[in-house]
Amino acid sequence: MSESGSHNDVSQNLPGEHGTHGGEPAVRSDPFANPGLPPHEYRRQDIDERAAKHSERVVAGLFTLSMLGTIAFIACFVIFDIDKIVYIFPFGHVSALNFSLGLTLSVALLGIGVGSVHWARTLMSDEEITDERHRADADDELRENVRQQWITGAKESGFGRRKLIRTTMFGALSLVPLSSIVILRDLGPLPHDSLAHTLWSKGKVLINSNTNQPLRPEDVAVGSLTFGMPDGLKESDEDFQDQIAKAAVMIVRLKPEDIKDKKEASWGHDGIVVFSKICTHVGCPISLYEQQTHHVLCPCHQSTFDLSDGARVIFGPAGHPLPQLPIGVNADGNLVALSDFKAPVGPAYWERP
Ligand code: FES
Repeated sequence: MSESGSHNDVSQNLPGEHGTHGGEPAVRSDPFANPGLPPHEYRRQDIDERAAKHSERVVAGLFTLSMLGTIAFIACFVIFDIDKIVYIFPFGHVSALNFSLGLTLSVALLGIGVGSVHWARTLMSDEEITDERHRADADDELRENVRQQWITGAKESGFGRRKLIRTTMFGALSLVPLSSIVILRDLGPLPHDSLAHTLWSKGKVLINSNTNQPLRPEDVAVGSLTFGMPDGLKESDEDFQDQIAKAAVMIVRLKPEDIKDKKEASWGHDGIVVFSKICTHVGCPISLYEQQTHHVLCPCHQSTFDLSDGARVIFGPAGHPLPQLPIGVNADGNLVALSDFKAPVGPAYWERP
């Protein structure tokens, strides 16, 4: 490895000794310079302490701008309502919240990015170094050389000496993550026990999701899979998506002798059993049914449940069986629920500490 010069060489050859005066870039006469490289040209900041101070103030100003951007981001998040629309030329009508969050976060990140680039371009060392490539692994001498250069580079970056930059940079870097913390509020409220209750209750008629008609036992053939929902739920309802996400069920008919789990058989009707359609892993809707084995498969991460054995998990990341809905038949001959699910539907968050 050869270098165009070391830190000591630079200090020995600063303008006044070999370079031009009056702010013109100087040319270093370096006895160790690599002949393949042009002579080193000093920046104004290398030869003029006032220019270096000016750059330092610019960098500190950019980091300070980043801090203000983060504070403005948080303020906008608190002040603006999601529904507030404003006219901003040339974008037209936009959400005040989205626009202000985008703008202020851009300022916060740009302040750090541009400040760092300006710092590196004007104040950190810009010595040219060449490295002749041969073996990929480095010998001890090279490692020591790199270590020394790292130490020299750290010194020359002025990180320890330029307290203003260091302080404002730490300020900007420590404030900017706050932006991601405050927007956690948009994840919505915690589910608490909302998944423990669904629209199912004693006497609720099972509706075929395809035909929107009440289901009768004779409608459910052995080996078929039918999706259902509770009576009274309409797509036009404001909370339809929330309710159907919890109450969606799948209905299958097994031969009674094929049902291994006694409780499952007693909660069914003549081999018809009803389970939540929501996977107990992270809540995807289950849709694939293997008639021969009575297995249902979640398409998201391949959790597989055995519907002939209490919807027990036989494969995949789900930790719990699918909750079963106890059913019976009402006086009109329709399939009805006998209660709500006996376990919360969906991901098993309630078991987490
Ligand atoms: S959501 Fe069903 S396996 Fe992950």
